[in-house]
Amino acid sequence: MVKIHEKYISRCIELAKNGLQSAMPNPSVGAVIVSEGKIIGEGYTSPYGGAHAEVNAINSVSPEKDLENATIYVSLEPCSHYGKTPPCSDLIIAKGIKNVVIGCVDPFSEVAGKGIERLKKAGCNVVLGVLEKECIVSNKRFFTFHTQKRPYIILKWAQTTDHYIAPDNTIINSAEAASFLITNQYSRQLVHKWRAEEQSILVGTNTVINDNPKLNTRDWEGKSPLRIIIDQNLRITKNYSIYDKTIPTLMITGNHHDEINTVDNIIYEQIDFSTNIAIQICNTLYKHNIQSVIIEGGTQTLQTFINENLWDEARVFTANKSLKKGVKAPKIDGTLIEESNKTGDHLKILKNI
Ligand SMILES: NC(=O)c1ccc[n+]([C@@H]2O[C@H](COP(=O)([O-])OP(=O)(O)OC[C@H]3O[C@@H](n4cnc5c(N)ncnc54)[C@H](OP(=O)(O)O)[C@@H]3O)[C@@H](O)[C@H]2O)c1
Repeated sequence: MVKIHEKYISRCIELAKNGLQSAMPNPSVGAVIVSEGKIIGEGYTSPYGGAHAEVNAINSVSPEKDLENATIYVSLEPCSHYGKTPPCSDLIIAKGIKNVVIGCVDPFSEVAGKGIERLKKAGCNVVLGVLEKECIVSNKRFFTFHTQKRPYIILKWAQTTDHYIAPDNTIINSAEAASFLITNQYSRQLVHKWRAEEQSILVGTNTVINDNPKLNTRDWEGKSPLRIIIDQNLRITKNYSIYDKTIPTLMITGNHHDEINTVDNIIYEQIDFSTNIAIQICNTLYKHNIQSVIIEGGTQTLQTFINENLWDEARVFTANKSLKKGVKAPKIDGTLIEESNKTGDHLKILKNI
């Protein structure tokens, strides 16, 4: 029986991947309805504000009376509260579904076990914790945000074989330095896909001044993340692309400033630069309900988060180029979980475990 449960929860996790980008900041969930050993309905979370996975799966079953002998599998506990939609646990009960298999408990305080309680009280047979770890990982941003009260943090950089992330712009002019690209177009496109998967992107002052990045997702379908820029003394002048008003931008500064500048689409947040910068930035992002951030450099910014042990994943490209001089890559220790050459550049993914 356990193996059968795992097979269907595994299918829920696959389905949930389809809603990951559009459901944010809601978790993306997969639901499968099984009767007499056959899948009779499936669903995953609709874009933010839309139907939950259970609703989509239930609506896909025809005729409706088949639901009565069915088992519903869900990767996350069915909700019990009125958010943008009515509680899914009530719908399961109303449709007469007697068996409910759940991957993991919802960490969101409005739910947190209350959905399971409701189902049990109504007489449903509930099996909990099937592929629990995998279900939690499938919503790693949502879980990190609710359990650790900070966004899920992905560090990303590209380095040469001799461990530099940029040329020395004191020996070549800044335009030449800015146009020096370490990775190829396929790796850069993959990075744009990654950007579309996260709620925000963060870089340091020198990266903006040296590279003038747009920090958007122009090479991939999807929403551009909120831009977050560290600029202690507001050194970055208004002619840089981050001030182009196309994407909301959050400036982390040491100076007091009006909190919102609607003309420039900028929000200012003041922190104390004399201590624990990474934790203060995490607290600021939590306050703004940001569940994930991809940090794309430069070295001082990345190292700040590494040194304060505030990171979850690091994605490091190494291209077959050398520089001999320049900005040294960050130093990091982590567990290697994936290694590939799919784009033509070498990619290592490390986890902070
Ligand atoms: N290959 C890649 O993947 C990649 C990616 C991004 C950038 N880069 C390169 O990286 C280079 C810049 O790297 P970088 O290390 O010099 O600079 P950076 O991290 O982009 O910016 C450093 C600046 O940001 C502020 N800052 C960041 N962390 C801080 C902290 N903990 N405390 C205080 N201030 C902090 C400071 O500005 P203030 O001095 O104003 O206080 C500091 O000078 C650029 O040349 C860029 O081309 C490469």
